[in-house]
Amino acid sequence: MAKKKVLVTGGAGFIGGNFVQYMVKKYPQYDIYNLDLLTYAGDLMKHKEIESEENYHFVKADITDRETIIPLFENEKFDCVVHFAAESHVDRSITDPEIFVKTNVLGTQVLLDSAKQIGVSKFLHVSTDEVYGELDFDPNTFFTEDTPLQPNSPYSASKASSDLLVRAYHETFGLPINITRCSNNYGPFHFPEKLIPLTISRVLKDQKIPVYGDGKNIRDWLHVLDHCAAIDLVLHEGENGEVYNVGGHNECTNLEVVQTIISALGKSEELIEFVTDRLGHDKRYAIDPSKLEQLGWKPTYTFETGIAQTIQWYLDNKEWWEQIISGEYKNYFETQYTL
Ligand code: NAD
Ligand code: TYD
Repeated sequence: MAKKKVLVTGGAGFIGGNFVQYMVKKYPQYDIYNLDLLTYAGDLMKHKEIESEENYHFVKADITDRETIIPLFENEKFDCVVHFAAESHVDRSITDPEIFVKTNVLGTQVLLDSAKQIGVSKFLHVSTDEVYGELDFDPNTFFTEDTPLQPNSPYSASKASSDLLVRAYHETFGLPINITRCSNNYGPFHFPEKLIPLTISRVLKDQKIPVYGDGKNIRDWLHVLDHCAAIDLVLHEGENGEVYNVGGHNECTNLEVVQTIISALGKSEELIEFVTDRLGHDKRYAIDPSKLEQLGWKPTYTFETGIAQTIQWYLDNKEWWEQIISGEYKNYFETQYTL
């Protein structure tokens, strides 16, 4: 019998990369296709361990390139699609919103057209809790799947737009879909422009840590492997057309996150530097994951266990992140911060 073909877009990035490795190892009976353009955020160094596995395949392509993507779907006849590829960094969306519209909105629409044309059995769109906007600091309020979409940044607006297109292809054309909306992920292979890997890599070099505003903004941290398990579950068991929120009930202020890392690495809080706040900085994100828990998902990491594992991973894998911070990223850092 032919193997099931699973297309993963953005599988050279942080979450998609972890998901590709998870799927290649867990499902030898599936062929996993990693489609990625290898932008600044994607690399194949992370896949050294799986690159020679029989069920792993890499395709370098741009999801916005209809002339390539449609024939690829026609030739390969993918059974299902798990769509991660995106521009994902809020700060970059503030300085250059256009690429976010192109990749996140147009790219998703090209994939939806391609999936519709060949009739996939599922199109799983990986989205974000940021599409719901922000919560205030009342600890009893959470995002549910019914919270209205009120994105505040160009990044979250582009993700919300793509969510609406996915919904529309389900309602109009009957495309089988799921949308997952997760909170902030952390873990191995997290690109060092994001708060946690940026802090770990800079603390290890005794460099200043830029904390936006007063550091009191709250994020709800989810270990990437818990996220992979959630996507696996929704891919196999998710009810057609449904949205699932994914979050681990791990709320921390940004300052707490930075202090935890500094303390774990035995360094001084003098490394913290409060800098000008991000424009339109969302105050708080917090997820109510009960719908997904009813489907059978439970996070295995607390923030304490997950951050300890992640710090250790960055200590053990300096070669990976050292290469990244010495490349194109260096120019980005110098334009973004004046530390
Ligand atoms: P990432 O930036 O680490 O990786 C994105 C990947 O997409 C990269 O490998 C990049 O090369 C690829 N890509 C970009 N443009 C492309 C194009 N035009 N064609 C093909 N590939 C392209 O992102 P991530 O943090 O792994 O996030 C993955 C998904 O999860 C995104 O859709 C993001 O919106 C969503 N998400 C992320 C988080 C988080 O905390 N990181 C939280 C919620 C949702
Ligand atoms: P980030 O990792 O960029 O994720 P997101 O914006 O998608 O939540 O940022 C997490 C939080 O950390 C966010 O509130 C902004 C803050 N932050 C800083 O304080 N300093 C930084 O240098 C960065 C990158 C983020």
